[in-house]
Amino acid sequence: MDTILELENISKVYGRGHTAVKAVDNVSLQVKPGEIVLIMGPSGSGKTTLLSMAGLLLRPTDGHLRINGQEVSRFSERQLPALRLHNVGFVFQAYNLLGALTAVENVEVVMNMADVKGKAARTRAVELLTRLGLEHRLNHLPADLSGGEKQRVALARALANNPPLILADEPTGNLDSKIGHEVMELLCCGLGRDQGRAIVIVTHDHRLRDIADRVLWLEDGKLSEKESNWNGDYAWHGVTNP
Ligand SMILES: Nc1ncnc2c1ncn2[C@@H]1O[C@H](COP(=O)(O)OP(=O)(O)OP(=O)(O)O)[C@@H](O)[C@H]1O
Ligand SMILES: [Mg+2]
Repeated sequence: MDTILELENISKVYGRGHTAVKAVDNVSLQVKPGEIVLIMGPSGSGKTTLLSMAGLLLRPTDGHLRINGQEVSRFSERQLPALRLHNVGFVFQAYNLLGALTAVENVEVVMNMADVKGKAARTRAVELLTRLGLEHRLNHLPADLSGGEKQRVALARALANNPPLILADEPTGNLDSKIGHEVMELLCCGLGRDQGRAIVIVTHDHRLRDIADRVLWLEDGKLSEKESNWNGDYAWHGVTNP
């Protein structure tokens, strides 16, 4: 197995007729174990759409998608959650934690879905959160955690079932730059990268180019390896393009 994620001529069209939007246009991409791939591009260029398809949250309109060697189109809607659970960890900008559950419960719940229950789930959840520096926050509710802490819980949750692929959609977008950098270190240099895991990150943060194996650019739904001129968008996101 030498490819974790394979997109072959993937497209996504939202809507139909004269209101149809081609959000992702004929994109091909292969991501191998241990690789860190950054995807950058202007607002509305299709980054979230592309990542959602890679993370099996959204079906492509066209093209083939293979995850860990398995052709995704062969899986029914009912089978997809299990495929996703074992193969993909998703980190969202908005954390997406369950507000009624504590930090440790938020991590346990995704293991429970993968049939890891009781003491085994608790032990792994505590171990992950401890490695992420949250041993003193295990029983806090998300509302009582800082942004960086919430994002570390989200990271623990994404790693809980030990998936070979992590997808992160602007994971530091809501964090100040120092905390954001710590989260990225954990994701890309620490725990996230254990066991040759592949990581795909959508980001506007140019500093992350240093840690990436590959930087790809998405514009008008088209993916390329060449940076184009979209400095204005950085101003919009409050980030200066060096
Ligand atoms: N559910 C939807 N229905 C219709 N159009 C959509 C839908 N979701 C996204 N779009 C459109 O598809 C295009 C790509 O959107 P997407 O969210 O993937 O962009 P993005 O690169 O993630 O942007 P941002 O940097 O602002 O998060 C945009 O033109 C958007 O308006
Ligand atoms: Mg987006």
